[in-house]
Amino acid sequence: VNSPLGGVQHLYDPFSDTSTTTIYDKYRLLRDGHPVYHNPARDVWCLSRYEDVLQADRNWQTFSNADGVDLDAPAFFGTGDFLDTDPPLHDHLRGLVQSWFTRDAVRRLQDRIDGRVVSVLDNLDSGPVDLASDFVWHIPIWVVCTILGIPISDLDQVHAWLTRLSTRPPDGEAPSAAAFAARDTLRDYLADLAKERSRRPTDDLMTSLAQSAARNELTMDELVGMSVLLFAAGSETTAGLVTSGLVALDSHRQDQTALRSGDADLLIAIEEMLRFDSPIQYLARTTTDDVDLHGTVIPRGARVVLLYGAANRDERRFESADAFDIRRNPRRHLAFGNGIHSCLGQQLARLEGDVIFRRFFERVTRYELTGEPTRLRHPIIRAIVNLPAQIVRA
Ligand code: HEM
Repeated sequence: VNSPLGGVQHLYDPFSDTSTTTIYDKYRLLRDGHPVYHNPARDVWCLSRYEDVLQADRNWQTFSNADGVDLDAPAFFGTGDFLDTDPPLHDHLRGLVQSWFTRDAVRRLQDRIDGRVVSVLDNLDSGPVDLASDFVWHIPIWVVCTILGIPISDLDQVHAWLTRLSTRPPDGEAPSAAAFAARDTLRDYLADLAKERSRRPTDDLMTSLAQSAARNELTMDELVGMSVLLFAAGSETTAGLVTSGLVALDSHRQDQTALRSGDADLLIAIEEMLRFDSPIQYLARTTTDDVDLHGTVIPRGARVVLLYGAANRDERRFESADAFDIRRNPRRHLAFGNGIHSCLGQQLARLEGDVIFRRFFERVTRYELTGEPTRLRHPIIRAIVNLPAQIVRA
């Protein structure tokens, strides 16, 4: 079969498949027949079994983040993005912000998030709507803006930059000039905000980072890269969780009924949504040593992707893994990763999911998808940007 990669159709290509519906069939082929798969055209190794992904994630010494977690755009967010660093720098930078994301810290935001969800829902009438662009995306971006201290009047603008910087060419080419330009504009914007907060402190995360910079705990460049990480990592992922969850519940009506009536636990269902259609399908690492796994040696210096999306469908770990089952408690799914980089915002994402679905079920008594979803064109992120539906308001 001809392919743009030079004549051969490879079993799995980390650039072309994330947003397709057939991706889970490919993952099964990988797990069952090629647990240590090498794509020669990309020179990338792929781990797909639950246990292998988990062990690699826990072993940061051998599976390093220092060369970045994106295959197409190393260091895209710039220095300060601590997902692209190893200890000790990683631990230092993460340590500067982690108190903002503890369970208690995010719970203090619950009422404000709830108010936002209600006001967005109040703008929807019965009839045709786009559940992604008219509803879901308005929540997580607002939440990260609120935490960082980005004025809400700038929300549409920063959202547009985010969309532009995360829309990638379909075949693994480097991000477009427009994506780089949007990244730079966002960086400049965040740098200006930090300077403003140094002059006039408030109680937001940007003020706290500006104060850390004043104490020389991080550079201005690091402050900006970290802000871009927090902004991007918190928005598209959470939107992915909710949009994919709405798709799953549309085709599992009994589950939806059980959630609406309280016969099933929403928090457990959210974990199942994360397992079933993981918003981050994979992240890359670089080996610092030869790794011998299932009789294959991955050489030192190799790029390896940890396929969370495949690990979460591994029958070796989850019974009937391809079935969406809101009553299973998919404990220790890998949608938030594991080890030292495990998602900093996971308590926040869970809280947002909980508030959004609860209010949605209350205000929207019925919804039906009416067209094909449009997915974000990004090799890693699985999220829906347009989700046409028909709704009935309470
Ligand atoms: C459903 C929503 C989300 C999903 C599925 C998700 C998933 C992930 C994954 C897979 C990682 C990497 C884990 C690893 O390498 O082991 C990660 C890291 C991270 N996430 Fe999330 N995330 C979500 C929401 C958020 C939110 C709301 C925030 C906060 C604003 C956030 C901030 C971060 C940060 C800062 C890191 C880097 C952590 C580090 O390197 O130490 N995420 N996330």
